[in-house]
Amino acid sequence: MFAAASTVAGDLANFDPDAPMVPPDLDHIDITGPLIQRSRAFAERDAPDLAGPEGSLRRRSARAPPIAPPACSPPATRPMTATCCLASPSLPPTSSPDAPRNPPRTGSRRRGHPVPSGAHRPLAALAAPASPGASRPIARSRGTSVSAPTMPAVAVHPGTPHSLHLTELPRPEPGPGQVLVRVKRVGVCGTDREIIEGDFGTPPPGERELVLGHEALGEIAAVGPDVAGWTIGDLVVDTVRRPGPCAACQSGQSDMCSDLEYTEYGIIGRHGYMTELFVEEPDHLVRVPADLEAVGILTEPLSVVEKALQQANLIQRRISTWNPKTALVLGAGPIGLLGTLLLRSRGMDVVTVARRSAPNAPSRLIAGAGARYASVRETTLADIAAELPPIDLIFDAAGNAALVFEAMRVLGNNGVIVLLSITAGPEVEPAPLNLIVREFVLGNKVAVGSVNSSKEHFELAVDDLALFERLWPGLVGQAITRRLNGFADWRRINDREPDGIKTVIEVG
Ligand code: BGC
Repeated sequence: MFAAASTVAGDLANFDPDAPMVPPDLDHIDITGPLIQRSRAFAERDAPDLAGPEGSLRRRSARAPPIAPPACSPPATRPMTATCCLASPSLPPTSSPDAPRNPPRTGSRRRGHPVPSGAHRPLAALAAPASPGASRPIARSRGTSVSAPTMPAVAVHPGTPHSLHLTELPRPEPGPGQVLVRVKRVGVCGTDREIIEGDFGTPPPGERELVLGHEALGEIAAVGPDVAGWTIGDLVVDTVRRPGPCAACQSGQSDMCSDLEYTEYGIIGRHGYMTELFVEEPDHLVRVPADLEAVGILTEPLSVVEKALQQANLIQRRISTWNPKTALVLGAGPIGLLGTLLLRSRGMDVVTVARRSAPNAPSRLIAGAGARYASVRETTLADIAAELPPIDLIFDAAGNAALVFEAMRVLGNNGVIVLLSITAGPEVEPAPLNLIVREFVLGNKVAVGSVNSSKEHFELAVDDLALFERLWPGLVGQAITRRLNGFADWRRINDREPDGIKTVIEVG
């Protein structure tokens, strides 16, 4: 498809298609713009199979109402976490209410993570699986104890590599204004792998364990007092981030947090979903239609890409003639694949670039959506770009900084590159920097980072999962290449799957 390269530029040693992604959100701006208008025209003209009967390329954001600014909340953990811990009392907590909640994410093992001495305990000491519904004594004053029902959970000691273990959490009950959610499955992403490797993650204040999992599909199991509109059995996905004190967070844009004092389920300061149940305020939940049960677990990673596209659209309102046709996606892990499908669903011509040679699971999925796959083992971005019209939009989901700078060179004038991956590994010296900067200036190019996602992006993701299923029945589900039984297979969560894309933990 693409001419073979004489050389492969850049250091691809750390080009990890499963690299962790970071996402964002804007919720009250009408982004209907030339991309959408152009996409509709493009889809109808060049890809009629992509334009659904009901107009799949509809206004994306107009229907979503502004999100009310959340009340300023303390960095509370969910009720279920209150007494969670099998930690030895002699070990200090890895965080305190005064410690910075969100240490710098360096991508380099344990840099920026204070690891308490002696924090690592042998897995054997923690390996006995807790049986669902088991009870454990909760110490009470005056030496008496009662048994409270508990549930198993998969946790780590943040900062300690490979400290994955089973623990127990108290079974939660929904209070007023809350619902109880039964976890059905949890997705594993690059961020979870980073946490397991000890490179990232922060336990809830005062604790030393962090229950993993920030991508979950669940169903309503009970409805607390003063909650209307929710029924037992409703499928839901929970949004990941909760606001900190900064102005962006307090105005409802925690995905644009400026002081990094936010919390995130299963990542920063809040236990995640690799357990059986959690309680939540329904405002944070997004409904998933029953017919998307099989793919609803992809809502959170797709929400990250929805934000990326929205960011590009918002930025490009600076150009009245913005009419993008050609896109490059770097990386063929879950984020790269979902980005490929999203851009294809908008009618763009997409080339997705990854390291592995085709054929493989991602290349088949990409072809199924009418996009093209190229391996940087066999060609270079420069050679790819030479065969394409000007590249209007690039999503980086590859985790390789050198590749990002190569991509900056092939980005077309007036184009946008959205950086979604956390790059790591040895520092690189991308060349030629003078040329890259000059071309960015002369070409009015934009590079933007994008992390996390808001409720609006989760809602867009649910809509687009439905759209993907209409456009390419069964295709997006092929991104789930491995299913593990959570409380039996937890040791395998971080195993690499040779030709895999997405691992999902079946919980209930
Ligand atoms: C999650 C985001 C989160 C980010 C940084 C990603 O894997 O999808 O929601 O903001 O990690 O913690």
